[in-house]
Amino acid sequence: MVTLDFAAPPGLRALSLLFLSCLINTSSAGVLQPRDDVPAGYVSAPYYPAPHGGWADDWAEAYSKAVDLVGQMTLAEKTNISSGVGFFMGPCVGNTGSALRLGIPQLCLQDGPLGVRTTDNVTAFPAGITTGATWNKDLMYERGVALGQEFKGKGANFYLGPSVGALGRKPRGGRNWEGFGSDPVLQGIAGAQTIKGVQEQGVIATLKHLTANEQEMYRMYNVFQPGYSSNLDDRTMHELYLWPFAEGVRAGTGAVMTSYNAINGSATSQNAYLINGLLKDELGFQGIVMTDWLAHISGVPSALAGLDMNMPGDTMIPIIFGTSYWMYELTRSALNGSVPMDRINDMATRIVATWYKMGQDKDYPRPNFSSNTRDREGPCYPSALISPTCVVNQYVNVQADHKVVAKQVAQEAITLLKNNGSFLPISTSAHLSVFGTDAQADSQGINSCTDKSCNRGLLGMGWGSGSADYPYIDDPISSLKRKASNVTYYNTDSFPSVPAPGKDDVAIVFITSDSGENSYTVENNHGDRDSSGLAAWHNGDTLVQKAAAKYSNVIVVVHTVGPIVMESWVNLPSVKAVLVAHLPGQEAGDSLTEVLFGEVSPSGHLPYSIPVSEDDYPASTDIITFALGQAQDTYTEGIYIDYRHLNKAGVKPRFAFGHGLSYASFELSDASIASVTELSMVPPARPAKPTSPVASLNTTIPAASEAYYPSGFNRIWRYLYSWMDQGDADKAYAVGQSGTEYAYPAGYSEEQKPGPTAGGPNGGNPALWDVAYTVSLTVTNSGAGNFSAKAVPQAYVQFPADSPYDTPPIQLRDFAKTEALAPGASATVTLSLTRKDLSVWDTELQNWVVPPGEYKIWVGQASDDLTVVCSTETGSCEAGVEGPV
Ligand code: NOJ
Repeated sequence: MVTLDFAAPPGLRALSLLFLSCLINTSSAGVLQPRDDVPAGYVSAPYYPAPHGGWADDWAEAYSKAVDLVGQMTLAEKTNISSGVGFFMGPCVGNTGSALRLGIPQLCLQDGPLGVRTTDNVTAFPAGITTGATWNKDLMYERGVALGQEFKGKGANFYLGPSVGALGRKPRGGRNWEGFGSDPVLQGIAGAQTIKGVQEQGVIATLKHLTANEQEMYRMYNVFQPGYSSNLDDRTMHELYLWPFAEGVRAGTGAVMTSYNAINGSATSQNAYLINGLLKDELGFQGIVMTDWLAHISGVPSALAGLDMNMPGDTMIPIIFGTSYWMYELTRSALNGSVPMDRINDMATRIVATWYKMGQDKDYPRPNFSSNTRDREGPCYPSALISPTCVVNQYVNVQADHKVVAKQVAQEAITLLKNNGSFLPISTSAHLSVFGTDAQADSQGINSCTDKSCNRGLLGMGWGSGSADYPYIDDPISSLKRKASNVTYYNTDSFPSVPAPGKDDVAIVFITSDSGENSYTVENNHGDRDSSGLAAWHNGDTLVQKAAAKYSNVIVVVHTVGPIVMESWVNLPSVKAVLVAHLPGQEAGDSLTEVLFGEVSPSGHLPYSIPVSEDDYPASTDIITFALGQAQDTYTEGIYIDYRHLNKAGVKPRFAFGHGLSYASFELSDASIASVTELSMVPPARPAKPTSPVASLNTTIPAASEAYYPSGFNRIWRYLYSWMDQGDADKAYAVGQSGTEYAYPAGYSEEQKPGPTAGGPNGGNPALWDVAYTVSLTVTNSGAGNFSAKAVPQAYVQFPADSPYDTPPIQLRDFAKTEALAPGASATVTLSLTRKDLSVWDTELQNWVVPPGEYKIWVGQASDDLTVVCSTETGSCEAGVEGPV
């Protein structure tokens, strides 16, 4: 398989691409091949036309301004703002065309979920998985606020995050760590909180990757092979993979990015069922849908399927000739009548409306950094052969005091899995021997590997576009040495020869597991952990075993992208404590040592299960391997992933989803349940969908002159423009006037639909978010150990036993994190369950249905430690019970 190295310097990239171009005759027309077959029963049904945006009340003002402005645009201006100007053609990872005459600048789209990528003077925040492990909604939001401020400070209009797809279906999946955990509710809440924080700063959040983007290998369409097809059924789509997107749309995300893969055989960037049907009509999404980078594989079909922006503008083979499926081709498609002007109007209006909605029309900064070079000056258009020179880096420092929130996230995520005999915390005067290269920042330079495509030194983030440069790293060894009086560091992953330890000596062993994006291969892992599996890297398991053979007191610290199997050492008697510190970003040191030395009690909880064996998961969640043609990834496990599967199969994990110990212990008491909204079996009717103001825009094919290059225009070779040469535009216009019909796809229609029953603005039928029940309880720090600490009560729903729908034994529905409770102190916590939380997706009714019967709401401190149960039938709760799993 051909992998394009997006991070290589432009010269090198151009050469390798040129080589490819000799092999392949790329055509900008984007001839579509017939789809590969997918297993029977998996369908992406046609859904047309693309629903207009602009019918949700809270978007009305933005749309009214946008319609006004788009009404004044020429065709070429509309198509210019809907497309990228080409890979590496501007300062950011994606750069749109502009409509300067009307005040719309080029927009800057920049990675990534944990910080502003490929630039300096930014904060390297903890990754999504770390944020999920805090189970702290306020912190999720605060991190979003800080991220938003940094993106705005750098002049980025779009934050390419948060990532809620991958969901974590595959434990080896390469990019699970960019998201928040293997559960749709945890992902949904964390994603929504991030979006709110980011967008309140005026930055457009881009929720990605829609969807079922669960492995890295074979993900991309290329000239030899289509990207893999994720084949999933309607219920699985709604209850798992679409769920966090619905929450993000409800939180108001301005943009959504599609994924590289196909769904049920149809590439997501041109999948009408996914974009028109699920996202824009059912979830009532009002913002912009963009492709993932170089995932645009057709012109007209993608426009009809509801795509609004292609990124970074190029065809599948970027840069070589400056070809696009959109830009001038979209202009041509409008003039020749294949893409209706109504669709062009809608995509342009969605973009302008989102820009207005975030207030970017008011003094929004221009990009002041370059993702292409760190030099002050460089080519204005780096992938052009000849480019003028610009000042491209102004080195604006946007870090403010964000290290505070970064450290708090890193710290509140630290998940104490095991603490035999309350071994932790330890004293700063203990004799400490520290093992593992992960304890110290990479001695070759903290940013020495492009996009973190190596696992050297501290593992603070995974690799790929989800990484950012560290401004510094507070590494664990420096922090340990600052705080403790007697520290010996062995900077090696092979157990060294050590003096005979005293019986109270403590070994702290640092181990890792890394993964990332498929654009890089690291230690034979192609993005996914296809080679390492769930074993610790660099023989970490052996390092722990050897330390445990020598020392009587071993603490294991794991920096990891996801679950690792710990069986070879976790139960050894000298392994006293195990902490998962996830991917802490720049604040890896004090955040950890304050926990080790007891200044702060750990309060993180696992955002996934840690299995006894990888074989405990269904075989369908393994990484799929090479196939001739399209690889098929079929979700035969349906809604049973992670703990949903383990509980159903009756398989105990080593550490359950939601598990996390504290130095304190908590009691849950005085639980009560209140019914807030009485539930009918199906929700009340959705609100009618009003006509969008987009419908008022002129849909007549405009004069060809709207597409002509301005006279005397100085073109930059390979830059993507939306204008056409006069002769080409006239020819296209003539076709448009000739009455020739484009061969539209099956099921094509131009009549706006009233919207599906389950649909509604901003996430779906608003009644789905009616609170059905609240559960209140008292959480008391019962005082053991005399530590102040934060607790995380988690609410799981158990559907009626006699429900006709097969449902997982328990499913997370809400959670809260208390303030630090002093010994003896308590807090009252209220958890909510909405109508949607108590519903299943009925594939016949195409609606969310509340199966009648008794629901049990279980509350506890982990999915396998549920000590409180409330019944919707009796309206009462009991504490001190045994949990259901
Ligand atoms: C590809 C990645 O999948 C996506 O997450 C990222 O935003 C783009 N590249 C841009 O770098």
